[in-house]
Amino acid sequence: METKIFQVEELKEAAGLLRQGELIAFPTETVYGLGADALLPEAVKKVFAVKGRPSDNPLIVHIANFSMTEKFVENYHPLTEKIVEAFWPGPLTLIFPIKKGSLSPVVTGGLSTAAFRMPDNKKTLTLIEETGDPLVGPSANTSGKPSPTTASHVYHDLKGRIAGILDDGATQIGVESTVLDLSGEVPTILRPGAVTKELLEDTLGIEVPLDKHLVKESETPKAPGMKYKHYSPDTPVLMVKSNDWAKALAWAVAENKSYGLLATPKIAEQYASTTRFVFADDSIEAATRGLFSGLRALDEGESVDLIFAEVFPEDHLGLAYMNRLKKAAAQKYFEV
Ligand code: TXA
Ligand code: MG
Repeated sequence: METKIFQVEELKEAAGLLRQGELIAFPTETVYGLGADALLPEAVKKVFAVKGRPSDNPLIVHIANFSMTEKFVENYHPLTEKIVEAFWPGPLTLIFPIKKGSLSPVVTGGLSTAAFRMPDNKKTLTLIEETGDPLVGPSANTSGKPSPTTASHVYHDLKGRIAGILDDGATQIGVESTVLDLSGEVPTILRPGAVTKELLEDTLGIEVPLDKHLVKESETPKAPGMKYKHYSPDTPVLMVKSNDWAKALAWAVAENKSYGLLATPKIAEQYASTTRFVFADDSIEAATRGLFSGLRALDEGESVDLIFAEVFPEDHLGLAYMNRLKKAAAQKYFEV
C-alpha cells in the first residue's frame, strides 16, 4: 500500500478513505494519532494490527464537538460542563461510563467506560466532521516507540501500512493528553499531560488526585495503557540530575562509552558532546515539545552506547515530561 501525504485541500478524500475503513494518521496539538472510523470495528482492528498494540488497551474516541459524545455516554459527571468549557478542544481526555453496546468492545477493550477527546487542531476537527463519525486515535507510532510529533515520524514507523497521513507540521505540546477519569465520584488523573493537576485544581476548586500508580510504582494503573513499557528508544537512556552532569560524563569517558545528550541549552552549553539534541530553550514547555523528537533523533542518528537525559521537577508540566522520560529510561538514573 502506498501511504499518501494529504494536504488540507484533500481532507474530503481522506475522510472518504476513513469511511471505507482505511487508516489515516492525523495531527493534534499533542502527538499524531492513527485514525480509524470508531464505528467500523474491522477498521479499528487494523489499528491494533498496524501498531502491534495489545488488544486489551482501549482507544480514545476523538470527536469534533461535545454533542458527538451524547450517543455513547451513559451519564455525565456533574463537573463535566465546567471541565469541557475550560479545556475542550485541548489536551484533555475524559473517561465516561458508556451505554451498553454503543461502542464496539474493540474500541473499549470490553470496559463499561470509554475515553473521549476533542483535539485542538482545525484540520483534524474538519476531518472528523467530514467523516461524520468519531475517530479512534492512538498515537501513530509502532507500539513501544516514542509517540510521533511530526508526519515524518509517522511515515518512518507506518509507511506502506496505512492509507495516508494528514500533515500539519510539528505538534505544539509533544506528549499525549492528560487522561481524567470522570466515571467515578472523584475526578482522577490516570495519565499526566499538559492540562496539569494544578490547572485542573485551580479551575475546579477541588483536589484532583493522581491515580495510585502515578504515586506508587507498585500499584496497577487504571488506564490499561499505562502498564506497558512505552516510549523507549533502542539505545539505553539514563536520567541525569542537575548536579550529576559532570560526574556522569566523566564516568562515560572512563568507561569508554559513547553518549548522546538530551538537554536544555543551559546544560548543553556546559558540556561538549558531538551527539546531542538540544531543546529550543530552557523551559519545561520546550523540553516537553522536544522529548520524543529528541529520543528518536538520538536513537536513529550516529549510534551511541547511551543517552543522558535531563530531569525536571515533577510538578506542573514537569510531571508529564518526567512520566514519559522515566518510561523511556526504564526508571534508571545515573547514580554516583
Ligand atoms: O494526546 C493523545 O491522547 C493522543 C492523541 C493522538 O489524541 N492519543 C493517545 O492515545 O495518546 P493512546 O491510545 O496512545 O492512549 C490512550 C490512553 C491509554 O493509556 C489507555 O489505556 C487509556 O487512554 N484509556 C482509554 N480508554 C480508557 C478507559 N475506558 N479507562 C481508562 N483508561 C483508558
Ligand atoms: Mg500511545
